[in-house]
Amino acid sequence: MSLGTKVITTKSADDFAKMEVAGRCVAAVHEAVRRAAEPGVSMKELDAIAAEVIGEHGCRPSFLGYHGYPATICTSPNNIIVHGIPGDYRLREGDILSVDAGAIYEGWHGDAAFTMAIGEVPDEVRELLVATEQALWNGLRQAKAGNRLGDIGHAIETTAEPHGYGVVREYIGHGIGRQMHEAPNVPNYGKPGKGMKLKEGWALAIEPMFNLGGAETAVLDDGWTVVTADGSLSAHFEHTVLITPEGPKVSTLPEPVLL
Ligand code: MF3
Ligand code: CO
Repeated sequence: MSLGTKVITTKSADDFAKMEVAGRCVAAVHEAVRRAAEPGVSMKELDAIAAEVIGEHGCRPSFLGYHGYPATICTSPNNIIVHGIPGDYRLREGDILSVDAGAIYEGWHGDAAFTMAIGEVPDEVRELLVATEQALWNGLRQAKAGNRLGDIGHAIETTAEPHGYGVVREYIGHGIGRQMHEAPNVPNYGKPGKGMKLKEGWALAIEPMFNLGGAETAVLDDGWTVVTADGSLSAHFEHTVLITPEGPKVSTLPEPVLL
């Protein structure tokens, strides 16, 4: 998503190093939540695990209090696309669950999300998760100096096309740094060679959301929870990527990966 003051900032190698610490923390949150996510576990319990891991890493959660957001992570089961507030819902065999987490280290952010299956899910659901993650990596590979924003969006959108998935348009990726949401906006669609030219020192959060059905979204009465308008299942994968002189560097992993 994309809220708040939009500034575009260029980071130094030292800044990137701090973003890598935040990113490693986010990766640890993912790992802990993934391990704990099994039938019977509640969203609130997963949120508590995330809060503990963030503290252990000497970081702070970036979502808690953000525009009034009331939890540490977003937990978005099944037809929830993004921004599900961890509550009393307990996982069931056959669910899918999207987990989005953000951490701040010495003022620098990491932001990443994944979707997992809880036990066995039908092949078409597993394929949705695989394709959405594939789209993320196809987008990340385009995040290098000299390329354009449209190259990222195009790589993502064309990954969805052969499957006929709904590509969510209302929620998009974003610049990231000292704020979770900075300029530029990073849509999950676009034309190759079009849009702003990417520069060394930028950092982006790239985050495709694909639906098994249509692309349309709706927001529940809590003002946060974004669902598919048609009730279909939705997947969300996100990483933070640093545009370094050597190429795209994904920071939200146990060890940063240069593409
Ligand atoms: N990770 C989300 C994003 O990419 C942010 C979650 S919204 C919050 O923009 F309010 F929970 F912070
Ligand atoms: Co994000």
